[in-house]
Amino acid sequence: MKSRKFLAAAAGALMALTLAACSGGGAGTDDPSDAPTGGTATEGGLVGVAMPTQTSERWIADGEAVKAGLEELGFDVDLQYANDDIPTQSQQVDQMITNGAKVLIIAAIDGTALSSQLQSAADKGIKVIAYDRLIRDSANVDFYVTFDNYKVGVQQATSLLVGLGVLNADGSEGTATGPFNIELFAGSPDDNNAGFFFNGAMDTLQPFIDSGVLVVKSGQTDFEQVAILRWQQDVAQKRMEDLLTSTYTGGDKVQGVLSPYDGLSRGIITALQNAGYPATISDGFPIVSGQDAEIASVKLINDDVQFATIFKDTRKLAAQAITSAESLLAGEEPEANDTTTYDNGVKVVPSYLLESDIVYKDNIQSLLIDSGYWTADEVAAGVAS
Ligand code: BGC
Repeated sequence: MKSRKFLAAAAGALMALTLAACSGGGAGTDDPSDAPTGGTATEGGLVGVAMPTQTSERWIADGEAVKAGLEELGFDVDLQYANDDIPTQSQQVDQMITNGAKVLIIAAIDGTALSSQLQSAADKGIKVIAYDRLIRDSANVDFYVTFDNYKVGVQQATSLLVGLGVLNADGSEGTATGPFNIELFAGSPDDNNAGFFFNGAMDTLQPFIDSGVLVVKSGQTDFEQVAILRWQQDVAQKRMEDLLTSTYTGGDKVQGVLSPYDGLSRGIITALQNAGYPATISDGFPIVSGQDAEIASVKLINDDVQFATIFKDTRKLAAQAITSAESLLAGEEPEANDTTTYDNGVKVVPSYLLESDIVYKDNIQSLLIDSGYWTADEVAAGVAS
């Protein structure tokens, strides 16, 4: 059910992009007679799609949407998941190169670990698109499709402030003045996005920490102290348990937690529930942020347990990756909307950034259900059907 829904949506989004590409003309400077045009431009051939893990449903949706859209255009697709294991992903990319892929679309596990694979891709003229996560330390990355990752972090912090009543949802000043005890979590240190999320969040929270409205009671505010390797839910749960034991004894309560990903949020929530915090936010459960609009977390938001998440429409990201791949195969520069932000250590990789939205309980319907991302039944059940 779920995959059909994602496939249909991806195909629809892709058709719109392909039509736009056909009518809009490309940015390339090659002799147009060299480059086939329109839907037949890149028909056939193998595209390798390397995704990090199937333990998080967003990557499953991403993979399915990219595969479906490419197949619709006549490509063969080698879609691989690497179980969050770096050597496995390196081997998979090697194999895609050996199998004759024309383009690689890669969501890296460790953004620095693929340099030798990308060198052999470049030697064979294979184009490389970094998908969602920047691939670092390599000149051989042709394009990057992602969301505005710094802004995602700003949105996560904003949702925390809104939940605490320090800000209103429209960004204006709220009535609450604190002080509120909060704790901070960040994503995997080897994922370039994690730093962007954390920086966006901390730039937003710091003025309130400085003014005493927010208190990070554990004192753990450095990225290295709060990062969770490979975004693992059980590691986040354990860290929250440790924080509760070390810092929140004798009646002190944590009132908010900055969490950068729904899986981590669920681990944090489990730790808080096990420690006896009230069942719902209305009754005093702490404000917990998130990311990805995973269905289990959307249910928790609907049930007044998790306060918010960030919706990044993976269907749009998949469509953007595909249209970028088509451009590269036609010898053109993909359309970029950011050519300054994403320095991978060797070069600034031209990028296309998509927008994200904060999901609260009161806009689940308009953002997630009306757009066909989840059905009302799935939200009620907390599982994809
Ligand atoms: C993605 C997030 C995701 C996280 C964990 C990041 O690179 O941008 O959407 O929550 O990885 O999978």
